[in-house]
Amino acid sequence: MKYTLGIIGAGKIGEAILAGALAKGLYTPKEVILSVRSELHRQDLERKYGIVATLDNKAVAENSPVILLAVKPKSIVEVLNSISGHLKPGTLLISTAAGVPIDLIEPCVPSFVGVVRTMPNLAVSVGEGMTALSRGRNVSDEGMSLTEGLFGAVGGVVTLDETHMDAVTGLSGSGPAYIYIVIESLADGGVKMGLPRDVAIHLAAQTVLGAAKTVLMTGEHPAKLKDQVTTPAGVTIDGILELEEGGLRVALIKAVVKATERSRQLLHK
Ligand SMILES: NC(=O)c1ccc[n+]([C@@H]2O[C@H](COP(=O)([O-])OP(=O)(O)OC[C@H]3O[C@@H](n4cnc5c(N)ncnc54)[C@H](OP(=O)(O)O)[C@@H]3O)[C@@H](O)[C@H]2O)c1
Repeated sequence: MKYTLGIIGAGKIGEAILAGALAKGLYTPKEVILSVRSELHRQDLERKYGIVATLDNKAVAENSPVILLAVKPKSIVEVLNSISGHLKPGTLLISTAAGVPIDLIEPCVPSFVGVVRTMPNLAVSVGEGMTALSRGRNVSDEGMSLTEGLFGAVGGVVTLDETHMDAVTGLSGSGPAYIYIVIESLADGGVKMGLPRDVAIHLAAQTVLGAAKTVLMTGEHPAKLKDQVTTPAGVTIDGILELEEGGLRVALIKAVVKATERSRQLLHK
């Protein structure tokens, strides 16, 4: 094999994972081949990363033991059919396609190909993504470790049974959008109280980042951390009372439930 990693499709997700893997030194540019659809984009990617970029998906299939498949869900079957005859025994195929089950991918490729389904979010572009992995039938332990390492280079990773993928889509897949609204709303509150807009957004975003890091680094339940920063008869409890009255908790729970249900519908369309 001429390369160590092949990537088919380098849009928002594919390019972000490539950039993260190169930045973390998981692969050198010489070890990577990728394919896209447009010539201009191909040239741009070659210039930017010093990798080999092609318009020929078959070249990626023939020359890579690990292939990240990051094209749109509607293109998956067509791409798989075009590369299937060119895949080598032992190839690991990692799909990022939302809503495309392993059961749909495996029949399109030879049985010697291992398939991992992933659900990343767009924060992989800043190295703080959250990706869930589900293991297909023919994936070795090494294949799973390699996939964990690849996505670990661009954020958090969790391996789950595929039945949870819709809930993952509703929570961490869609979650960045929910939190952007939380940040925007906190900033609006600051602006209402006289803070300049840019300062308010900075305060809100850094506060969300800090709270998230505290949860991840201490491993404490969020309710305990909330109690720690809520002085009896202090300021924060008044803010919390407003949040409870406004139904923030219920709204967020329902957002995850609705988005999960929607993801399930997409899957069965
Ligand atoms: N964006 C997200 O937040 C997100 C989150 C989770 C999962 N995903 C999944 O990740 C996948 C990619 O999403 P994206 O947002 O990165 O899409 P995107 O920005 O539209 O990128 C798609 C890439 O695929 C390339 N492509 C299209 N048809 C191709 C073909 N036949 N052969 C080779 N390359 C082809 C495109 O090439 P050109 O650039 O040359 O057109 C482009 O680089 C999707 O399946 C999506 O469900 C995305």
